[in-house]
Amino acid sequence: KKRIGILTSGGDCPGLNAVIRAVVKAAELNNWVVYGLPYGTDGFQDIANEKCCPEDLLLTGRCYQLPGRIRGLDVLQFFSGSVLGSISKGHPEDPEVKAAILKGYKILNIDALIVIGGDGSLDIIYDLAKEEKWNIIVIPKTIDNDVPFTEFSVGFSTAVEIVTQALYDLTFTAASHNRIMIVQVMGRDAGHLALRGGIAGGADIILIPELTPYLSLDVLDGCCHQLLKLQKSGRHFGLLVIAEGVKNQKQQKEPYIADYLLRQIQEYSQILCHEKHEDFCLLKDVDMRVTVLGHLQRSHPPVAWDRLLATAFGIKAIELIEADNYDRLVVWQKGQVSSEPLSAVINTIKERHQQKVCTSPVEKHDCMVKTARS
Ligand code: F6P
Repeated sequence: KKRIGILTSGGDCPGLNAVIRAVVKAAELNNWVVYGLPYGTDGFQDIANEKCCPEDLLLTGRCYQLPGRIRGLDVLQFFSGSVLGSISKGHPEDPEVKAAILKGYKILNIDALIVIGGDGSLDIIYDLAKEEKWNIIVIPKTIDNDVPFTEFSVGFSTAVEIVTQALYDLTFTAASHNRIMIVQVMGRDAGHLALRGGIAGGADIILIPELTPYLSLDVLDGCCHQLLKLQKSGRHFGLLVIAEGVKNQKQQKEPYIADYLLRQIQEYSQILCHEKHEDFCLLKDVDMRVTVLGHLQRSHPPVAWDRLLATAFGIKAIELIEADNYDRLVVWQKGQVSSEPLSAVINTIKERHQQKVCTSPVEKHDCMVKTARS
């Protein structure tokens, strides 16, 4: 009879609860117990500081009953967010925090820990687990879909759906007012969400960091020509999607890069108009608006595919623990669930972070494209 811990770390996304449900249900079949750690590694600190005892955290065997004999667990997969709560990093580099995490882990006395995490939070927990020889299994989740080795992370498909729906909705107001809508999409340094959502939502232009790392004059020129083409074809509205990871002309990150782009398009088309490219005077007067989709992209109930993926991943995690096969990332590859060694995943993530320090535009472009391809 094994004792399993489970926690969610990093930004929330749709499907986290579906993973938790699948893990608990699969563990119940083996008669194992599952403890849910509140707020990531903070949960271990709570145990160490006697804010809660392990029994408070038990997820198995609990019949938190809703009307009609529905158990909380039965409907958990339909809700977004994380019932366990999540934290970004947890600061285990602080010696006091680290000591409390280790103490709590010891008190909980688990055989394995399942971490539902993404690119941003994985390396920290991995270092801790390696140092302390914890048995861990990681389940990838993020709307950015940038965890290496897996074609899909939990949460991504729902976010794509939200972006697609937003673009559909914006089409009608754009068309009614002959406006260009500039839509900023999340994804951190990756453009997967902007690209897929943009294509499915019928965007006219999509800017992603892998191809246009920053808003160079060339990029602006391309956008203006494309928008002008639309105007001249008689289509007086348009949808322009920009991933938040695209940088400004100085190659710096802007929290509202879509606003920056709007100003740049206006200025650039004005310059072109003054330079007697008369066509562009058409563009100068076009009305433009910005929509930043923000955290709405993370908070929708998971779509069916995310629930299926979450369920397959949760069951796989329990199978790996059954086989005492630890330090693995559960992945989706070529239509199947399988797993990869965590060390390889972490190396790839660390390499990527190092590549981000390249400075010249050409170098940067090359390494971003390499990253996207990997
Ligand atoms: O990594 C997921 C993500 O939603 C990114 O797309 C986004 O840049 C970031 O998290 C936002 O983080 P926060 O919730 O801390 O604002």
